[in-house]
Amino acid sequence: MYRLLLPYFAVCFFSLIFINMKNSYTEILLSESAQKEGAGEIQSSQPGKPLPCQPTPPAELGPFYEPNAPERMSVGTGHTLSGVVRSSADCSPIKGARIEIWLAGPDGKYSSDYRATLYSKKSGEYRFESHFPPSYSGRPPHIHIKIEARGYQTLITQFYPIKGQFDSKFDLVLVPISQ
Ligand SMILES: [Fe+2]
Repeated sequence: MYRLLLPYFAVCFFSLIFINMKNSYTEILLSESAQKEGAGEIQSSQPGKPLPCQPTPPAELGPFYEPNAPERMSVGTGHTLSGVVRSSADCSPIKGARIEIWLAGPDGKYSSDYRATLYSKKSGEYRFESHFPPSYSGRPPHIHIKIEARGYQTLITQFYPIKGQFDSKFDLVLVPISQ
């Protein structure tokens, strides 16, 4: 009798060990699979949503700013500056932003001939044409820009075009006024 029972218990014992090992292995596989899926969710969270835009760095107003520049999109030819006015909160375009631009004339001197006021379109786009700004007083070529939009902090900045580049892109990213 005992000779029959001993193999029976032995089979049951090894069967339990096998089932336990199988369950543990399955658990490991499921855990790894869940981790991979979790990682995928992090990478693709909120697909289609644009990444936040970095605010455009501010710069000095400088001594040559004058308010009430005439409304126009061009003060010359040879260099085009364009881009999109955006919100740093969600990169959305800002329409109707008031953009004042001034730069030194070809002779290196500031005058009313090289000042302009323009507004961003519904798409947030703006475009300004002028001569390529000259260097003056040891400063590299640059264009001054001041941007105002309702609900956003006023931004004063400068753009430095690269010599030989006549079509420059420069997005203007504004910071919302905190409530
Ligand atoms: Fe300047």
